[in-house]
Amino acid sequence: MLAIGGNSTPAIAQTTSPDVATEAQSTDLNTGFWSQIRKGATGNVSIPDKNAGVLIQSEGDTAYRSFRNGPLKLYATYGLLAILFLLALYFLLRGRIKIDHGRSGVTMQRFNGLERFAHWLMAGSFVILALSGLNMLFGRYALMPVIGKETFAFITLWGKYLHNYLSFAFMLGVALAFILWVVHNFPNRHDLVWLLKGGGLFTRGSHPPAKKFNAGQKILFWSVVVLTISISLSGIALMFPFETAFMAKTFAALNAIGFELPTSVTPIQEQQLNQIWHGIVGVVFIIIILGHIYIGSVGMEGAFDAMGSGEVDTNWAREHHSLWVEEEEQKAKSAPAAGSSAGQPAE
Ligand code: HEM
Repeated sequence: MLAIGGNSTPAIAQTTSPDVATEAQSTDLNTGFWSQIRKGATGNVSIPDKNAGVLIQSEGDTAYRSFRNGPLKLYATYGLLAILFLLALYFLLRGRIKIDHGRSGVTMQRFNGLERFAHWLMAGSFVILALSGLNMLFGRYALMPVIGKETFAFITLWGKYLHNYLSFAFMLGVALAFILWVVHNFPNRHDLVWLLKGGGLFTRGSHPPAKKFNAGQKILFWSVVVLTISISLSGIALMFPFETAFMAKTFAALNAIGFELPTSVTPIQEQQLNQIWHGIVGVVFIIIILGHIYIGSVGMEGAFDAMGSGEVDTNWAREHHSLWVEEEEQKAKSAPAAGSSAGQPAE
């Protein structure tokens, strides 16, 4: 049972049933009672879920739905097509970045088992999260007409389960990678030179010096950290709707202590904003990672080995991470008796 109350409620709402309205009252009903409802007036409900007191939440259609189906999908499509186009163009113009001195046949360890586990936990779960997320955004239009409603429903349902559960594997992978690699990702003076030379990505034979990670990789690392925090918080809020209503409560609290913010946020609006934000961050994340996947696989000879076997060719290492090789050689020289195998070449 819903009853509209409060100062803004037209009196007619409490006294007259729409079924028995006279013609004159019917005009009042359209401009008064129903227009209040259409504008999202909150009524009183006797069930515990007070959100049910909102019969029609118009912004749900005008702001949230039209934004999601309009600009969000449009710019997401442009962004994804643009990165695929740019990577294809780069490949055509630059080709695969070769090891200039060829493979030496001698390798050294770049990532140990734990580092590779963290990377592939993060990467494997990300790929499934990305595919199931894109399906939620575009599948109905791009996939359903091709594979049919039943197959689409099956894929989407399982995609949603995977999306919910694998999000935790992804967070764990990123947290582990953060712990393992943060120490190598603080900026240093070589990063500026690396950036000024475009990382040697646009000039053949140019190899600006770098330690374990170059400036490009550091940008990727911090982007992954920031985007993961943002996408995880918004995702958890979507998984447990109305649990915290953090934004709604903050706005209400600020207004209560006299901040007079131009707007307030209802818990339902907060869910909608969360979903929009989750979608935007997801698409930006996918665009960045597509660039990373390209350079870590087809784009550069010898790069994949680092995360595949963990061993890279020393010529690759010297060309792309010369300062790291020097450090590893130094370590190996200074602690041979300790049994450290770090950086020791292996045939
Ligand atoms: C699925 C395909 C992927 C491939 C083929 C791939 C490949 C690689 C390779 C080869 C490296 C080592 C680079 C080096 O030795 O310098 C690397 C490092 C890294 N990857 Fe991936 N990766 C993939 C997905 C991902 C995803 C989804 C993420 C995060 C969401 C990610 C985050 C990182 C980070 C933070 C590093 C360390 C910094 C860097 O080397 O750029 N990777 N990846």
